[in-house]
Parts: sequence; C-alpha cells; structure tokens
Amino acid sequence: MKKHQIIIDYHVYPDLDSLNTEDKLLMKSAIEARRNAYAPYSNFYVGAAVLLGNAEVVIGNNQENASYPSGLCAERVAIFQAGARYPGIEIKTVAITATSKNYVVKEPAAPCGNCRQSMIEYEQKQQQPIRVLLMGEEGQVVLFHSLADILPLAFSSSFL
Ligand code: THU
Repeated sequence: MKKHQIIIDYHVYPDLDSLNTEDKLLMKSAIEARRNAYAPYSNFYVGAAVLLGNAEVVIGNNQENASYPSGLCAERVAIFQAGARYPGIEIKTVAITATSKNYVVKEPAAPCGNCRQSMIEYEQKQQQPIRVLLMGEEGQVVLFHSLADILPLAFSSSFL
C-alpha cells in the first residue's frame, strides 16, 4: 500500500485591512450583500461576491424558505448569477462572509459541500483556478488559491 498526502497551501490575513485593494473591495461587496440575506429561520446571514475577468462583481446572499431545503446558500446564488449573466467570462475570486443574530462570527465561515461542488464546476470549466476569500464578521481572512484546494478529489464531468 502506498501512502499519499494532500497538502493545502493557504494564506491567513489578520484582518480585512491587510488585504490588497482589489480583495478588500470584493470582501466589502460581500459584506454589503450579506445585509440583504433572507435568513429568518437560521438567523445566519451570508454574503458572497464574485469578481469576474471583465472586472464586474456579482453578488449573492442566502435565501431561505419555510420549506427549508428549498432555500439556497449565498455562494450558489452568486455563482449561478455569474454563470447566467456572464457566461464564458472567467471567474477570478469569490469572497464569502457570514454574520449571525445569535453570536459574533469570529471565524471565517466555511462554504458547505454543495457550494464547493457547485463552484468547482466553473473552475473545471474555465481551467483556471478560482481564488476563495473567507471571513466571519470580523477577524482573520483566509485566502485559498483554488476551489480544488478546498474540495480535493472532487467529482467532475470527466467521470461521466
Ligand atoms: N449558508 C450559506 O449561505 N452558505 C454556506 O456555505 C453555508 C450555509 C446558509 C444556508 C442557510 O440559509 C444558513 O446559512 C444556515 O445554514
């Protein structure tokens, strides 16, 4: 039996102000988007902002539903909107931030598995990495250099 390892290279910034101007602006768009989340059931508000190769920014926020599974996460609202409005335009970076009515979110919010799978589809399609910036409502910001880094061994169209 051969032993294998998956090593993920990522960057941790102490706070929002430590980001470069482009990343900071993108995260600020995600913070703005977070305010319009519709999350009356979880009280957990997520905002996402997608930076495209044509410099457009597309936002999303979580949209909940009384029939819980019918709601959608912020990342998918944003990435599907990018796909719908700008098909074929490269996706550069996705910034994600979360806050809660119940506690102060000090840790970067990890995108759920479904969102990682939905987002990696676009990375596989464009054959260029999509950077991922994560932040809670305050504190550290984590940068991953690709979706593949946070969804190793992903399913893809190559299996079909
Ligand atoms: N949520 C997101 O928007 N993104 C994630 O990656 C994780 C969870 C939302 C879905 C739901 O509205 C609330 O957070 C609680 O799960």
